[in-house]
Amino acid sequence: MDALIQPVFVVHGAGVTQPIGSMPGIARYSVDAALDRHVDRLVAAGIPGVILFGLPASKDEIGSENFAEDGIVQQALRRLRARYPDLLLLTDVCCCEYTSHGHCGVIRDGVVDNDETLDVLRTVAVSHAAAGADVLAPSGMMDGMVGAIREGLDDAGYVDRAILSYAVKYASAFYGPFREAADSAPASGDRRGYQMDPANAREALTEAAQDELEGADILMIKPALPYLDVIRAVREQTTLPVAAYNVSGEYAMVKAAAAAGWLDERAAVLESLTAMRRAGADILLTYHAGDVAQWLAAPR
Ligand code: PBG
Repeated sequence: MDALIQPVFVVHGAGVTQPIGSMPGIARYSVDAALDRHVDRLVAAGIPGVILFGLPASKDEIGSENFAEDGIVQQALRRLRARYPDLLLLTDVCCCEYTSHGHCGVIRDGVVDNDETLDVLRTVAVSHAAAGADVLAPSGMMDGMVGAIREGLDDAGYVDRAILSYAVKYASAFYGPFREAADSAPASGDRRGYQMDPANAREALTEAAQDELEGADILMIKPALPYLDVIRAVREQTTLPVAAYNVSGEYAMVKAAAAAGWLDERAAVLESLTAMRRAGADILLTYHAGDVAQWLAAPR
């Protein structure tokens, strides 16, 4: 249970709890009592941390709300920091939820401009740190993102904040439900320019080593269950903590089968998460976190 991080979606508005169709049990919450009630339950169940994803009020070319002082994630961070001094607050540092084109970076001449994107990511990370984030989790697979964020945080005096890098992120079909939840599907094209080819395992080790050199504190592999071999390989290469992201599509499959009566949800979830731990993951980001914590607190 100490290993489980729950993803939480936050939206503008008041009194909003907006269920996500493709992810039964998961909703978007406004930053008020709606969010408090949700996080109160997670904390009571013993979840040590949450990772925040924001839905901005409006999107533009560079994703300005991503680094706005009153951005939705910044608001959520300040509220949660004040309410739960000991809860680990992680943030996803990426552009795709905030940009009008839905890509993970700044577009120049039709392609993602890596270096210009690094400037944005640095600013976003510092703004999250200022609002109370403990762990910054860059997820866009831009070259040099970890180094740029580390430098930005250190320069701003946030030497004590950690970086969890989405070091090994495959261009996966299993992100489908998340893109509904976060409204972040690319308007055109796909992410294969910056995410990894599912057939490639060795490149994962290069990506992980590079992020470690740049100062990552935790290395994450994503998705989880279809990539257990990669979790194991990264585990064997590094002494850093390894995380796995049990993504939205993995969650949706189990929930759909369980709803149809085809799977025992609890048994299937615990078996899957155990497999990720067995493969070498110390930390699991999973939409099942809250449920699992409750199940483990009340064994059947
Ligand atoms: C990017 C990001 C994505 C996820 C986490 N961070 C989407 C993507 O890469 O397309 C997906 C997580 C999931 O599917 O649960 N901000």
